Amino acid sequence: METLYIKVDENNPEIEKIRLAAEIIKRGGLVAFPTETVYGLGANALDEESAVKIYRAKNRPQDNPLIVHIQEVKELSLLAKNVPAKAYELIEKFWPGPLTIIFEKSDRVPYKTTGGLDTVAVRMPDHAVARLLIRESGVPIAAPSANLSGKPSPTNAQDVMEDMKGRIDAVIDGGHSKFGVESTVLDLTGNVPVILRPGGVTREELKEVLGHVHLEENVKEGEKPRSPGLKYRHYSPRAEVYLVVGDKKEQVKKIKELALEFEKKGLKVGILATAQTRGEYLQGNVLSAGDRDAPLTISSNLFSLLRRFDRMGMDIILAEGIPEKGLGLAVMNRLKRASGYKIISV
Ligand code: TXA
Ligand code: MG
Repeated sequence: METLYIKVDENNPEIEKIRLAAEIIKRGGLVAFPTETVYGLGANALDEESAVKIYRAKNRPQDNPLIVHIQEVKELSLLAKNVPAKAYELIEKFWPGPLTIIFEKSDRVPYKTTGGLDTVAVRMPDHAVARLLIRESGVPIAAPSANLSGKPSPTNAQDVMEDMKGRIDAVIDGGHSKFGVESTVLDLTGNVPVILRPGGVTREELKEVLGHVHLEENVKEGEKPRSPGLKYRHYSPRAEVYLVVGDKKEQVKKIKELALEFEKKGLKVGILATAQTRGEYLQGNVLSAGDRDAPLTISSNLFSLLRRFDRMGMDIILAEGIPEKGLGLAVMNRLKRASGYKIISV
C-alpha cells in the first residue's frame, strides 16, 4: 500500500489535513501521528478489525495491549468502569500529558484492543495534532508507538517512515516529539498504585499526588509481568548495546577500554556520550545524547540517536548511564532494555 505523507503545522494544524487523516481512521485504516511522547500508530479503538491491523503492521504479538487515546475526560466513561477517586486527582493534574492509567474496561472496548485483558489503558495526549485527530475521527484512538515491534520508538515522521512505509495508510508529520520517551503507565486497579513503565510523568511527581507508588521492577526472561509489553525485546537498534553505569569518570574510562577491544575485533563502535563527557573521547563515533543535569535533553534524543547509529552502520553501541532521577528513570529503563540487560557497573 502507498503511505500518504501529510505535513502539518504542529502549532496550528490545518484542519482540512487533519480531516483527511480522520477519514482514514473512520474507514478502519491506520494513521501514524505525533504526540508529545513518541509517534503513535492509530486506529479506531472500538473496532476489532482496526485493532488487528495495528498488530499486523507492527508485527506485534497479539497479547500486548494497546493504549487508548482520548481528547476529553468525558470519553473515559465510555471506556472504563469503576474509575477510582484518585484517578480524577491524577487526571486533573497530569492530563493532557504523558500519563497512561489502567482501568477496568467497559464492554465497549473490544478484547482485541486490550490484548485479551479485562483492563484498558487510557491516556490523553498533550499535542494539538493528536487531540484534533481524535476529535475529528469521533472515536477514541488505539495507538502503540509507531515502530516495528522491538525497535526504538519513532520521535519524528522520518523514523516512522523508516519502519512503516508501505505498511500503513498515512503518517502525519507534526515535527519532533518533546519527551522522546513514552508515557508513564500506571496501574490503578489494585490496592497500591503501580508504575508498570516509567515515562514522561516522573515517579516523584506521582508520589506528590498518591503518597505511595510502587515501581514494577524489570521483568526477566520467563517471568510473567503485569504489563504484557514488558516481556518482549524492546527499543533495540540493530547494533548490540552495552550500558555502562557508575561514577562518570570511571564510565568514560571503561567505555574507552571496551571501544578499543571491540575495534580490535574489527567491529564498528558508536559511543553514546553526554554533553559533560563528549570531549573526553578522542576517537570513535561519538554522539552526545544531551545534558546529564537536564534529562529531558537526553530523553528527547535517545531513540533517534539509536536509530542514527544503525544508519551509520555501527555494530556496537556503548552507552553511558545517567542518574535515575526524574526523567532519568525512564531514560535508564529504555537503555537497560535496549541493551538486553548487558549492564556493566564500574
Ligand atoms: O507515550 C505512549 O504511551 C505512546 C504514545 C503513542 O501514546 N504509546 C505507547 O504504546 O508507548 P505502546 O503500545 O508502545 O506501549 C504500551 C504499553 C505496553 O507496555 C503495554 O503492555 C502496556 O502499555 N499496556 C497497555 N494496556 C495495558 C493493560 N491493560 N494492562 C497493562 N499494561 C498495558
Ligand atoms: Mg512501544
